Amino acid sequence: MHFTLVKTLTVAILGLLSATRAQESSYPYTSSDLHCPEGSHPGFVHNSYTYLAPLHKFTKITGSFFDIAWYGGCSAAFKIGTDNVPGAIRGGPCDGGVFNETLTMFTAHSDGFESTLHGRPWTFPLPHQPPVHFDGYVETMRFESICGGKVTYIDLISHWCTDNQSGGYNAWYTIHMEVFQALAAGIGAPVLAGDCPRSCS
Ligand SMILES: *[C@@H]1O[C@H](CO)[C@@H](O)[C@H](O)[C@H]1NC(C)=O
Ligand SMILES: *[C@@H]1O[C@H](CO)[C@@H](O)[C@H](O)[C@H]1NC(C)=O
Repeated sequence: MHFTLVKTLTVAILGLLSATRAQESSYPYTSSDLHCPEGSHPGFVHNSYTYLAPLHKFTKITGSFFDIAWYGGCSAAFKIGTDNVPGAIRGGPCDGGVFNETLTMFTAHSDGFESTLHGRPWTFPLPHQPPVHFDGYVETMRFESICGGKVTYIDLISHWCTDNQSGGYNAWYTIHMEVFQALAAGIGAPVLAGDCPRSCS
């Protein structure tokens, strides 16, 4: 009888696990390797940042796909689907254009989270430069707790299609720098060079 109960529970738990997995994998895989329309060229940039502050200080601000005011200042006027579940869409007017981004991957665990989004075509207005048009873009962002929870490592890789390669690279590089400097400054997190901090005791 005992054995039957354990077996029933095991089956129930396995059932739950596979239901969760099925839900996670129900969103179709979308490649980050963009195929650009004619006249448009793929480009990419990889940026990483390490700050002396625990992960939760960042995730409180950055942990919601729907809440992106921290990332460049525009908020999502439309939000479709469920926050942080692949298939969710966020978008709205931003600096004279309209952005429209679909979450295509999201994984979270106790020591970090990682997400990928695919953006529809968007023209970025830039200060002191002609605007840059993107025929679509993909961005993967990762926040990871390191050094025993004292430090947060942030990693971004962005891919895009544009007819202005130097303008496209500059736009993404500048956005990343400004956004993450402001984010870290806002929570008073110093930049960390590469060694985990030593205990003071
Ligand atoms: C946003 O893009 C999706 C496709 O990814 C489309 O179905 C939807 O209509 C778009 N929304 C707006 C407001 O452009
Ligand atoms: C491409 O972007 C650069 C800025 O990096 C700008 O100086 C240049 O005028 C842009 N070219 C076009 C055709 O918009």
